Amino acid sequence: MISEFQEALLDTVGACPPTQIANNKYENVLENLDSGIMLFDSDGVLTFINVQMAKLLELPRSSLAGRNLMQILHLPELSRFKKKRIMRIYKETIFHRKRYHELIDEYGRHWLMTVTYGDQMDGDFLFSLKDVSDYKQIEQTAYQNDKLAMLGRISASIAHEIRNPLTAIRGFIQLLRPHLMELGRDEYARIILTEIDRANDIIYEFLNSSKPSAPQKTAVSVMGLLKEVVMLTESEALMKGCQIALDENDELMKVSIDVKQIKQVILNMIKNAMDAIESIGGEREGCIDIHTVLEGSYVHICIEDNGLGMDHNTLSRLFDPFFTTKESGTGLGLAVSYRIIKNHGGFIHVDSQHGMGTQFKITLPVV
Ligand SMILES: Nc1ncnc2c1ncn2[C@@H]1O[C@H](COP(=O)(O)OP(=O)(O)O)[C@@H](O)[C@H]1O
Ligand SMILES: [Mg+2]
Repeated sequence: MISEFQEALLDTVGACPPTQIANNKYENVLENLDSGIMLFDSDGVLTFINVQMAKLLELPRSSLAGRNLMQILHLPELSRFKKKRIMRIYKETIFHRKRYHELIDEYGRHWLMTVTYGDQMDGDFLFSLKDVSDYKQIEQTAYQNDKLAMLGRISASIAHEIRNPLTAIRGFIQLLRPHLMELGRDEYARIILTEIDRANDIIYEFLNSSKPSAPQKTAVSVMGLLKEVVMLTESEALMKGCQIALDENDELMKVSIDVKQIKQVILNMIKNAMDAIESIGGEREGCIDIHTVLEGSYVHICIEDNGLGMDHNTLSRLFDPFFTTKESGTGLGLAVSYRIIKNHGGFIHVDSQHGMGTQFKITLPVV
């Protein structure tokens, strides 16, 4: 801190006469403010720049003072990235009269630049630059929380609306069960009932984000679980013209999970893979490859497809509730999956190349 202060002072000595520093304590305050500040006069000449602004431009103050914008832009030490930025801000300020600029620097930090000019500035242009990364972070978290709260409310009402018809269907199937038994088709009734129960569970346990249920954990074999899920999706996959290849290896590897919840996650991902393959319209043979990799005390469940893949925008919003690129999508599958995996102490990793395919990697702790 002290050395920075001295450096600032020395720097100041280089730029203006020493008496001026001693006399002007306010200028000293400005010099060492944590926001960057610079002042151009009406001829476009830089008359003042504080330590922080010079640091942000990554240029020594001695090479800046007294120069006009063109000269500054021609400084070989100024990076191309910064040159472009300065030109943009200059144009927007002069031609579009913009007074606020939001910037992201090459290190991913957010900045707010404010330009003050006009009567109160006597022809001068004051530029001040503030680091707003922390505010941005808070803003984004609040936005995410808002969306999750909304998801909770909507899910609760959807859950309510869907549960009623499901209860009716369940009742009638039970009434039909003896007849199906006579026909030797009791199996159908059993499947319908389990599927209805699963649907009910999904609604209550997964969509109801407002009251996320704690996972009911049991230790199960990863491979056994994957086989079951693949069996459930095989017929749909055939219809959509894609093959599901499950690489059956380590039968003994176990995870402690809420079986219904994790099944739901894997189903979601396989369904998404099938959709991605369907949307390339038979351009190549669709393939969904599922395999597991044991790494330390974690198992990665990889679900790979050679479907449409994702662009940058989709990738960055993938887990947002209600984000969907499909006409009849809900955009809930991955948002809910994300929460489930998080609740299990795991994480989801995605790799995708537009036009080539996607890999989802679910990582869970092994027993
Ligand atoms: N395997 C995949 N390949 C390409 N895009 C995918 C894949 N999985 C998910 N996506 C993209 O992520 C979006 C969100 O997925 P999801 O949350 O499951 O909602 P939905 O399937 O209802 O759209 C999808 O609309 C799609 O654009
Ligand atoms: Mg989905």
